Amino acid sequence: MRKPLIAANWKMYKTPAQAAEYVQTFLPLVAGHNRDEIVLCPSDTSLSTVIPAVAGSNIAVGGQNMHFADEGAYTGETSPVMLKAIGATHVIIGHSERRQYFNETDETVNKKLITALKHTIVPIVCIGEVLAEREAGQTDDVLRRQVSLALAGIKPEEAQPIVIAYEPVWAIGTGKTATPEIAAEAHLTIRSEIARILGREVADGIRILYGGSVKPENASSLLNQPEIDGALVGGASLDPQSFAKIVKY
Ligand code: 13P
Repeated sequence: MRKPLIAANWKMYKTPAQAAEYVQTFLPLVAGHNRDEIVLCPSDTSLSTVIPAVAGSNIAVGGQNMHFADEGAYTGETSPVMLKAIGATHVIIGHSERRQYFNETDETVNKKLITALKHTIVPIVCIGEVLAEREAGQTDDVLRRQVSLALAGIKPEEAQPIVIAYEPVWAIGTGKTATPEIAAEAHLTIRSEIARILGREVADGIRILYGGSVKPENASSLLNQPEIDGALVGGASLDPQSFAKIVKY
């Protein structure tokens, strides 16, 4: 019922030439693979290279961030209108690196989520606890707070496209993966909070991805958990062979 979504977050890596080379290698590796939805999220400067290169294939393309305004005097930002116009269909919102280094807050995440839905861009909303919060036994509270603030003002009938990515901050780029059990437990908490806010039926349809040191070696044990509906992959998505192995977990 929930089609798994496997997304590559390239972060601030790859020039347009490197992105083009990647796509050329990656396309044949996943040709005809329709069990999972595949999304590549390059940096904005490679969108105009990657989008035409995957046109007509089973691969979609998303941005890594966007502003919540349609346009305006916001130097350095990309608007949802621009993403949509270039052919991006997805956008990552509230990644922990944006929360940590670029002042992204639960409030801006909520504004961006509302804007993405308005423009029919699929929002991949990132949440997750830091190590100190986990060690203090606050994980559930943190996740529930992040989910409820992200979803503020969203109506049940408009929520279906939303994708949540659970990315425990202590597992990002550290090589420390959450065990499948830890991830599944967090996903259950997240889904129950969505159900509290939007109802059980909506919650059961929303995809919750896991992110944090996903690799070809651990992808299947994570993705075979019924509560885990896909992955958001950083480092291991930078190599087309490695990302293709994850897609085909
Ligand atoms: P890594 O896969 O490099 O841990 O990064 C995860 C991530 O931040 C994906 O958005």
